[in-house]
Amino acid sequence: MRLGLVGAGGVALLHAEAAATLPNVEVTAVCDPRLEAAGEMAGRIGALAFSDHTAMFESCELDAVVVTAPHTLHAPITVDAARHGLHVLVEKPMATSVSDCLLMIDACRQYGVRLGVGHVVHFLPGAIQTRRILASGDLGAPLTMTERRTAHYSPGSRPAWFFDRSLAGGGIVMNVGIHSIDKAQWLGAAPATRVLAHVTQKPGMTVETEAVALLQLENGMRVSLSLAGTGLPFHDETEIVCEQGALRLSRRDGLWIYRESEEVPLLPAAESDIDRAFRDQLADFVEACRDGREPAVGGEYGRSVVATAIAIYESSALGDQVAIPHTSELLQR
Ligand SMILES: NC(=O)c1ccc[n+]([C@@H]2O[C@H](COP(=O)([O-])OP(=O)(O)OC[C@H]3O[C@@H](n4cnc5c(N)ncnc54)[C@H](O)[C@@H]3O)[C@@H](O)[C@H]2O)c1
Repeated sequence: MRLGLVGAGGVALLHAEAAATLPNVEVTAVCDPRLEAAGEMAGRIGALAFSDHTAMFESCELDAVVVTAPHTLHAPITVDAARHGLHVLVEKPMATSVSDCLLMIDACRQYGVRLGVGHVVHFLPGAIQTRRILASGDLGAPLTMTERRTAHYSPGSRPAWFFDRSLAGGGIVMNVGIHSIDKAQWLGAAPATRVLAHVTQKPGMTVETEAVALLQLENGMRVSLSLAGTGLPFHDETEIVCEQGALRLSRRDGLWIYRESEEVPLLPAAESDIDRAFRDQLADFVEACRDGREPAVGGEYGRSVVATAIAIYESSALGDQVAIPHTSELLQR
């Protein structure tokens, strides 16, 4: 599998490191309009460097690309890659509008290539075990979920384009909140169908830095979501209350299970979890391309996460709850 990396920033390095651990996978080329960044990454891994993705697609023998460019570029780059017959693993968020997601899905179908979306949470050991326990019914049916995430969201905390709406498509919701929406829908085992939300921002910011939302999943479960971008210490936690107990999944404390007065640690949090998740995510994508099957996280799922993020913005603007169209309704288009 000859991979091209589109974008040579922070997350591209995690994909390049993942590729280096997999047999029969090599990063053949890297492109970035910051040619020096592409050159530096390419030099480290013995790949070719380009400043433009079209030039890379046309002059290199590639099988697939990993798209790690700014959010609003995910759709046009994915469509270009599909037209060149390249499988695509695109970073989260899949795109910044539902219509862009649909264009990507259609292009990949039309040109017969696979489309994977980088919701890496699906490969984190704690999240995998949480989903298994919930699916086993051991704790009874899940009743409610609370998802809370903080991240310092101000200029200097991350590359400048994250604060440019034309490239990022939004702020903390579209970037960090996408992981929270994914967790709500994946662990809750159903897409969100209704949302009531409020997003706001600290003075001087061009994108939202804070958000609260109540999601209703298709199976009736309710999820409360809190994203805070100012002041608070690091927090990344999901609590799921079920009929006979509860689970707490914390990036810092690992996975815990609670029944009556009993509290038991199930899995510690390990620093290596994220590297392992990026490796397993790429391994799944490569295998899906070779075997002609859907990647574990495909375009329709990625679209459902983006649809929920957009609904959060719409609900906030409207000051009321909004309904999110079902995948089945969209498929009838
Ligand atoms: N899965 C995760 O846990 C995770 C973590 C971090 C970032 N991300 C996602 O990865 C993507 C990149 O984030 P990042 O933190 O690496 O940002 P970054 O700014 O470090 O990297 C993005 C790179 O894309 C380049 N770029 C801009 N326009 C381009 C174009 N037309 N073609 C190719 N490259 C272009 C930029 O110059 C930059 O080097 C985003 O979608 C982000 O949300 C995911």
